[in-house]
Amino acid sequence: MKVIIPVAGFGTRLRPHTLTKPKVLLNVGGKPMIYYIIDQLIKDKIASSIILVTGFLGDKIKEYLDGAFDFKFDYIVQDEAKGLGHAVHCAKPVFKNKNEDCLIILGDTLFDVDLKKMIKSNDSVIGVKKVEDPRRFGVVEKDGTGYIKRFVEKPASKDISPSNEAIVGLYYLKNSNVMFNSLEYIMKNKITVKGEFQLTDALENMISKKENMKTFNVNGWLDCGKPETLLETNRYILQKRNKTIKTEYPNSKIIYPVHIGKNVQITDSIIGPFTTINNNCTISKSIISNSILDNDVSIENANIDESIIGEGAVIKREVIKVSLGNNSEIKI
Ligand code: UTP
Repeated sequence: MKVIIPVAGFGTRLRPHTLTKPKVLLNVGGKPMIYYIIDQLIKDKIASSIILVTGFLGDKIKEYLDGAFDFKFDYIVQDEAKGLGHAVHCAKPVFKNKNEDCLIILGDTLFDVDLKKMIKSNDSVIGVKKVEDPRRFGVVEKDGTGYIKRFVEKPASKDISPSNEAIVGLYYLKNSNVMFNSLEYIMKNKITVKGEFQLTDALENMISKKENMKTFNVNGWLDCGKPETLLETNRYILQKRNKTIKTEYPNSKIIYPVHIGKNVQITDSIIGPFTTINNNCTISKSIISNSILDNDVSIENANIDESIIGEGAVIKREVIKVSLGNNSEIKI
């Protein structure tokens, strides 16, 4: 089966990190987030072809994937980020006019889910998760028999929301021809939301063409699109992996779970919990918790929590020396 992974967005909510590194290469739990998606697809032997729809900094994604996996990926460039629907449509040439099923996975979302079970369905299937407050999400409305009737984007209140089942970014579609036709319909008729072609508008069009769609519960939905959700996903991965480390670090304490990469120097520090430290980092006299440090970071004399620190960054708090008179006050 062909799998489409759109990764052409700018990742504005994760700036400044995404100005120099594509979002899907940001590190979480010791690996770029895209690693986990591809690894599962390859291990589960689900994909005959994996199509990456790339854009801004797309060359870096290609360089990473071609080096990390023994798999022949298809890369298609979305020349302008005109929305998820448009990005999916860019994959059409790879389908060579054959009507076949396809799986769409958002590149910035990890799923702890049985994909093999999901794709066994006789109908198209949309991944959903029950949420407390549906107002921030796209939700589905179903008929009495469990088929999706309609998609509602960001319902104004809990009371008027047709359900609390939010769309999570995992779609198994039985008929790619119908999908591409519906995408062409919304593009031809300029059906946009905030100037972008949405996949959900095409899905709704598919339903109007009698395409049956059901939902599939995805409890392990790990969004990586914002700093706080990236850190939450980092916590989830580290907790699940629950690995201990053999190396001893001088005069330092490790509070698990953590990930510590290769060639990392730690002295006089407390690391963890829920902290990822990548390769070649140097840490001294510091406390670091709930954070992600990319490669080559250097930290001295700092107390760091809930932080994402990019490659090669340096944090060094100088020790101050003062001669402070009676009743003086300094705040640092
Ligand atoms: P998002 O809208 O969440 O990602 O799209 P974004 O645009 O990169 O991030 P923000 O909103 O600016 O912070 C979900 C997925 O769809 C891809 C994105 O790369 C992401 O993996 N996408 C989105 C495209 O490939 N093309 C688009 O035009 C839009």
